[in-house]
Amino acid sequence: MLKINVGIIGFGTVGAGTFEVLTTNRKLIRDRIGAEVVVKRIADLDIESDRGIPVRPAREILTMDAMDLIDDPEIDLVVELVGGLDRAREFILRAMEKGKHVVTANKALLAEHGALLYRSAREHGVGLAFEASVGGGIPIIGALKNGLSGNRIQTCVGILNGTSNYILTKMTQEGLPFDRAVDQAVHLGFAEDPPTLDVDGTDAAHKLAIIISIAFGSPVSFNRIYREGIVAVTPDDIRYADEFGYRVKLLAIAKDLGDKIEARVHSAMISRDHILANVNEAFNAIYIEGDFVGPNLYYGLGAGRRPTGSAVVSDIIGLAREIKAGARELTPPLGHALPREEGIEIQAIEDLITPYYFRFSAVDTPGVLSRIAGILSEHRISISSVIQKGRKSEGPVSIVMLTHEARESAAQKAISAIDKLDVVTDKTVVIRVEGNSL
Ligand code: HSE
Repeated sequence: MLKINVGIIGFGTVGAGTFEVLTTNRKLIRDRIGAEVVVKRIADLDIESDRGIPVRPAREILTMDAMDLIDDPEIDLVVELVGGLDRAREFILRAMEKGKHVVTANKALLAEHGALLYRSAREHGVGLAFEASVGGGIPIIGALKNGLSGNRIQTCVGILNGTSNYILTKMTQEGLPFDRAVDQAVHLGFAEDPPTLDVDGTDAAHKLAIIISIAFGSPVSFNRIYREGIVAVTPDDIRYADEFGYRVKLLAIAKDLGDKIEARVHSAMISRDHILANVNEAFNAIYIEGDFVGPNLYYGLGAGRRPTGSAVVSDIIGLAREIKAGARELTPPLGHALPREEGIEIQAIEDLITPYYFRFSAVDTPGVLSRIAGILSEHRISISSVIQKGRKSEGPVSIVMLTHEARESAAQKAISAIDKLDVVTDKTVVIRVEGNSL
């Protein structure tokens, strides 16, 4: 039987999960491919710690030098799981130069240097696959590249960062302030300490860049995606959102506008009744609309040893099948043999048109509401609902508003003018409402 020799660089959480899936389900995987996947070498700087799964014979398999497997002519496929940018990129490029297929989970690398890696894979005639880079165990890349490939993708809305989703869930369900919810996430091991790239929207933007590149057929760097995190969200805003029938989620949104793509990551209100509003804790979900398939929803664990290992192994199996079939031309990394030549134009955030939630902090004197409403009206922003919270004690009050659809540039100008009013005591909180299209 054909043997496909695999080398794994990085024996941390995901590396160990990958090895565990390949070991535990070895026979099943062999029967599915009709070829044997053999982990010939694993490279890591730490080859002593117990990963909870035996590696035998350890002396032959484990090495501290990644080049041992990149330079090994018997290895067909290299799995890069070290993370980070520079070293990982060098390992991948070197492996491809040596004619090896590559699997990676490295979302940051793909979101920053994807174009270089896709080109290198094409030039060297090797496969490059990265299911584990988005949504952990959710097979969203496979869905976009295969299951939905007959469709023009119209909308993707994802909850792509489990840490933020966990924090927002705790703030919603238990009324915890942001800092305490973060502490809980760190304590339970969901979040890095500090989880900066999770809560500032960077991690979700990395993943959205990868989704957009596949869905729309051309590499997009994550720097072009507008992003805001969840740091400014307070339990008060979550409570007011609830009064209006909404939940607050960190959403990663991409929409096909015809000549442009809308691409943005920020906290947003969505109807309490929408399925995405009920994706809680550290779960991820991606809602997709295609022109023929209509709405599709993918839900699952976006991180963790076993789910992410499952995704990495799905890529190994996919490439092993192509190797076995002797494919002369492998499926391109983005699933587009002829990528969009003109590239992808991203709409400027200032041109976004959406409803807004505003929370103003103001002194409770006659005429405040009409001054705020006057400025909104000057900027052609129409109010759909207002709540003013009764005064519990002396001091500023919250005036909470939902607007009809308005242009982002107008919203920014209006809020900047309102925040200069002498009666306004604090910076206005702005949360976009993901309205009609969901
Ligand atoms: N830090 C990520 C999250 C997991 O919180 O979703 C890995 O992508």
